[in-house]
Amino acid sequence: MSGKFISIEGGDGAGKSTQLQVIGDTLRSNNIEFIQTREPGGTPVGEVLRDLLLNQTEYALSDDTELLLMFAARAQHVSSVIKPALKQGKWVISDRFSDASFAYQGARDIDLSRIQSLADWVLQGFEPHLTLFFDLPLEQGLKRVDNRGPTDRFENESIVYKTRVQEIYRDRARAEPGRISAIDASLDIEGVSAQVRERIQVYIDSCEVSQP
Ligand code: TYD
Repeated sequence: MSGKFISIEGGDGAGKSTQLQVIGDTLRSNNIEFIQTREPGGTPVGEVLRDLLLNQTEYALSDDTELLLMFAARAQHVSSVIKPALKQGKWVISDRFSDASFAYQGARDIDLSRIQSLADWVLQGFEPHLTLFFDLPLEQGLKRVDNRGPTDRFENESIVYKTRVQEIYRDRARAEPGRISAIDASLDIEGVSAQVRERIQVYIDSCEVSQP
C-alpha cells in the first residue's frame, strides 16, 4: 500500500514548526512510518535554491524567475524524495508544497491561472492527499515573526502583500474543502495541537476504513 502525502501551509508565524512535531507524534503513535521534509528545499539542489530564494537578496529576482525556481526545487523534490517514499509505503509530511506558490507568488503580479498552468506542467495532477492550513489573523502572525529574530525575504514583505497571501490561502481552502483542512491557529499552542491531533487521527482512521 502506498503512503499518504500531507502538506502543511500558512502565513509566517502560524506555528507550523511546533505542529510538525505534533503530526509526527500522532503518526508514530499509530505506527506509521514517515519522512518529514520541506519546501523550498528537501533535496541538496532544493536547499541551494531555498538559500537563493530566501536569503540572497542581492539578486532582485523577477516574479517569474522566483516562481520557476520554486517549481524547479519542487520538481526535484517530488521525483527524488516524495514519490519514492510514497512508493515504499512511507507517509510524507512536507512543510509547505504547491499551495504556497499560489499564495506567495500569486500575491505578486502573476495571474493564478499562469501558476496553475505551471503546476499542471510540473506536477501533472500530483498533489497532497491532505493539507493542513494554519489560519492566523495577520496581526498575530506578524507579532510572532517579530519575536523570532532574523527574517527572510518573504517575512520582510509589506502588510499588503501578506494580506494578499492570506486571502489566496483562504480562497483555496474554501475551494477545496476535501483536501485542505483549515486549522484555527489563533488559539494557544495546546488548542492548536489538539485540533491537529484530531484532524490527523480522523484522516488516519479514514484511510484504514477505505484500505482494510
Ligand atoms: P517557511 O516555510 O516559513 O520556513 P521557516 O519557518 O523556516 O521560516 O519559509 C519558506 C518561505 O518560502 C515562506 O515565507 C514562504 C515561501 N515560499 C514561497 O514563496 N513559495 C513556495 O512555493 C514555497 C514552498 C515557499
